[in-house]
Amino acid sequence: MTPTTHDHEAGQPHDDDVYSDGAVYSDDAEYSDDEVSEEDQPTGRNLNETEGIRLQKVLAQAGVASRRASEILIDRGRVEVNGQTVREQGVRVDPERDVIRVDGSRIPPPRRHVYLVVNKPRGVVSTLHDPEGRPTLADLIERRKERLFHVGRLDTDTEGLIILTNHGEFAHRLAHPSYEVEKTYLAEVEGVVDAATLKRMRGGLMLDDGPVKPDKVTVKSRGEAKSLVEVTLHEGRNHIVRRMFDAVGHPVRRLSRIQIGPVRLGQLAQGASRELTSAELGALLDAVKL
Ligand code: URA
Repeated sequence: MTPTTHDHEAGQPHDDDVYSDGAVYSDDAEYSDDEVSEEDQPTGRNLNETEGIRLQKVLAQAGVASRRASEILIDRGRVEVNGQTVREQGVRVDPERDVIRVDGSRIPPPRRHVYLVVNKPRGVVSTLHDPEGRPTLADLIERRKERLFHVGRLDTDTEGLIILTNHGEFAHRLAHPSYEVEKTYLAEVEGVVDAATLKRMRGGLMLDDGPVKPDKVTVKSRGEAKSLVEVTLHEGRNHIVRRMFDAVGHPVRRLSRIQIGPVRLGQLAQGASRELTSAELGALLDAVKL
């Protein structure tokens, strides 16, 4: 964030505008938005007042609100840049680097990458190319020039959400258990899952490759010889949900991933894909600390 003249708030650095990242901000220039073309958008942290883009313009470009309405949001103290509330108009930011929030929700940077979510049907392999010629995720999306890869895998027999992106670090982190992004599955299992079994599952199970403790397990419905159970986990070992239910004697008949972090399956039809929304992308970038 680049301060304009006299906008030092309590707690902000103010030693000659030298910030802790080493950038020096001059405060004697005033330029209109039009003098910063889209191509000129800064990518580094060495901003001064001739660089950066006015916050209200960034908010408007991100689709938050019109510029005027964005100014009102700023006036009302609803906008935060790098953890600090900005109430002054004209502050310039680097939308690529500065973390901008409205009412606490992250406004993601302008998209340089592709982020898609697909509802994978059963029978589709979780890959973009299959040497055996089986249907793949590539068959579910339009041909693109970017090289996409999938974030984690679903068994061929599992349906539901899978994210495709060409943002490598994002994909890597999202798939990594240390970032603890929750994934929720809906499992139709054999038999009636009783309270004792639920308690066992909630307490954690020992599998061949180590323990697993779900974040949440709830029975959605019980039929005569089957149950519908929702399981939330923040890890993704191979066949983990199927193995959990095998361990308690309720083999999975049908499995669907219905949520990844803030991204819900919702009404996305089987085989269909869509872009992540700004809110979803902002929340996921937060979750993986990008
Ligand atoms: N757990 C499974 O058993 N299968 C999947 O595809 C995903 C999670």
